[in-house]
Amino acid sequence: MILIAARSMLFAAMLLIATSSLRADPRTDYLLHCSGCHLPDGTGHSPQVPTLHDVIGRLVAEPAGRSYIVRVPGASQVPIDDKRLTELVNWILTEFNSDTLPENFRLLTEREVKRARDEVLADPARYRAENFPDY
Ligand code: HEC
Repeated sequence: MILIAARSMLFAAMLLIATSSLRADPRTDYLLHCSGCHLPDGTGHSPQVPTLHDVIGRLVAEPAGRSYIVRVPGASQVPIDDKRLTELVNWILTEFNSDTLPENFRLLTEREVKRARDEVLADPARYRAENFPDY
C-alpha cells in the first residue's frame, strides 16, 4: 500500500516536472529565475534588490538603458537561451512598466539581447550610478 502511494507520488512529481519544463512561457521563467530575489510581484527588496516596476520602463528610453537591463548579472547569466530571455525581459517591461514605457517603445530584439548579455556588468551598481544618476 505504502509502496503504491509512493509510486503514484513519484509519478505525479515526474509529470509535474515534465509539464513545467515544456511550459517555457515568460511568466514561468520569471517565477523560476527572477522572483527569488525580485519577488513574485516584481517589487524587490529595496535597497538591496531593486524593484522591476516603473523605473526600468523609464530607463529603456535611453539606448544604454535598453542594454543595461539585460547586462545586470541576474538577467544576463540566467540559464535560458537568448530567445527566452528576450521574451522574459519584454514581458517584465510590458507587465510591470506599462505606465512608464516611452511612447515610441519598441520591444527588445533577440539580437540586441544577445549582444547585451555578452557584456555582463561586473559592477552593476557603479555602472548604474555613473550612467543613470537621475533614475
Ligand atoms: C540572486 C538575486 C537576483 C536574481 C535571481 C535576479 N536578480 Fe535582478 N538584481 C539583483 C540585484 C542585487 C540587483 C542590483 C544590481 C546588482 O547588484 O546586480 C538587480 C538588478 C536588476 C535589474 C536592474 C534594475 C535597476 O533599476 O537598476 C534588472 C532589470 C534585473 N535585475 C532583472 C533581473 C531578471 C530579468 C532576473 C531573472 C532572469 C533577475 N534580475 C534575477 C538580484 C537578482
